Amino acid sequence: MLDTQHIQLKENTKEVGVKIIFITEDSLKKRKTKIANFALLEELGYKAKGNFYVQTDKILYVGLDDDNPESYANAACLAIKSLRNLKITQANLDLKGIAKEDQSHILQGFLLGGYEYNGFKTKKDDEKLEITINLLHINEKILHESQIICKSVNFVRDIVNTPPNIANSVYLSELAQNITMQYAKKYKNAEIQAIIRSNSYMEEQKMGAFLAVNQASNFPAFLAHLSYKPKDSKSSNNRKKIAIVGKGLVYDTGGLSLKPADYMTTMKADKGGACAVLGAFLATIALELDIELHAIMGITDNAIGKSAYRPDDVLISREKKSIEVKNTDAEGRLVLADCLSYAQDLDVDIIIDFATLTGACVVALGEYTSGVMGYNEDLKQKFVESALKSGELAHTLPFNKHLKKLIESKIADVSNVSSSRYGGAITAGMFLGEFIREEYKEKWLHIDIAGPAYVEKEWSVNPSGASGIGVRACVEFLKSLS
Ligand code: BES
Ligand code: ZN
Ligand code: ZN
Repeated sequence: MLDTQHIQLKENTKEVGVKIIFITEDSLKKRKTKIANFALLEELGYKAKGNFYVQTDKILYVGLDDDNPESYANAACLAIKSLRNLKITQANLDLKGIAKEDQSHILQGFLLGGYEYNGFKTKKDDEKLEITINLLHINEKILHESQIICKSVNFVRDIVNTPPNIANSVYLSELAQNITMQYAKKYKNAEIQAIIRSNSYMEEQKMGAFLAVNQASNFPAFLAHLSYKPKDSKSSNNRKKIAIVGKGLVYDTGGLSLKPADYMTTMKADKGGACAVLGAFLATIALELDIELHAIMGITDNAIGKSAYRPDDVLISREKKSIEVKNTDAEGRLVLADCLSYAQDLDVDIIIDFATLTGACVVALGEYTSGVMGYNEDLKQKFVESALKSGELAHTLPFNKHLKKLIESKIADVSNVSSSRYGGAITAGMFLGEFIREEYKEKWLHIDIAGPAYVEKEWSVNPSGASGIGVRACVEFLKSLS
């Protein structure tokens, strides 16, 4: 596994190194006299709420907003960046009196906020400082869970950030297989499997939509099916069976409906859904959640070339529905249509897909929020709640019958793009809904992560670039079912 984390959290009973103190602006003012170099603090502009630090000889004061639910995560994030700037490698933090939920936000702030991707810098002095933070009075369960979840999130960030000349479809499918086998060796209390399918299988399965997207690629398409089933038979009768499905476009040029240059950059992140699914799958194993989980990754690139699929082609999907291609850049929904069809044969209780599906979702909700869609209101709300609890932002987008009309085709069962420029995130979601069988309609969720999966500036506990979004929300949701 790649490792760009560089932050060690240790449980400890004694203080070692610099002491971190989270402090609000008000209480800082009250302690003014006790802080030796308060002038320095003022110079640093502590008035910017939640955005100050001051270092005395042994103490690092970090600003904490009074009114912001993310305040602890942001403060921990700021603390780790300050330690790095100050080249301090040992610090301690006493968590006595801090609520469990806040403790987990602090740990996520350290572990996720300390991440940086510079995989291709050649200069040695760019290597990251190893920072150890000793935690006093930490809740052990929270420490264990946070480490597992953040390791998965950072792993996903690493893969999504990996450039497309390296992370091609072969690389991603082999990575999924290898890491699953490593986990299978380590976690013996569950049946863990990785089945990697390729073009010939997809041809047998008549996955005409997925295969069309792969037509011009130099690499095969892969459907990775990873599974986890606890061996313990105690609760196997009422254990929930879940499938998570991810869009794994290792690169999206747009195909023959080619993207303009400015829109093509960052499209290495179009594999964000499949990578999030892989990350959530690994975290589920390590947390030993009491659910059966199937992770399905649809992996290919969307290339141009003489064998490329065309606008005007009509494809026959695995569900036997015909699709008129009007734009080859709306490829994710074609890959997912067949992967969702595959998932519905697994006889599961819930199916959730994660995809960097539409620019329209980014327009609708902004860069930081995932769009949650489906036919089941309760399920959508439940997912949004899990996402918010986990530290991610998510909001529902409503389907309606008028928008559904916009994906009708004159010559096929459905068109792969809407006839209107409005509501594109929802019409893409409703396109996927066309491939969900009646008995699964209430059991399915679609999560559009096109905005938050990859943002070219720092935000919350996320660095510039890949965020690993989807992992925390998905794991929190799965935890609520176990
Ligand atoms: N991968 C893109 C969506 C995307 C856009 C992800 C921006 C992340 C950031 C997807 O395959 C795509 O190109 N969608 C088109 C659909 C259109 C042709 C109907 C889009 O959003 O423009
Ligand atoms: Zn596209
Ligand atoms: Zn795409």
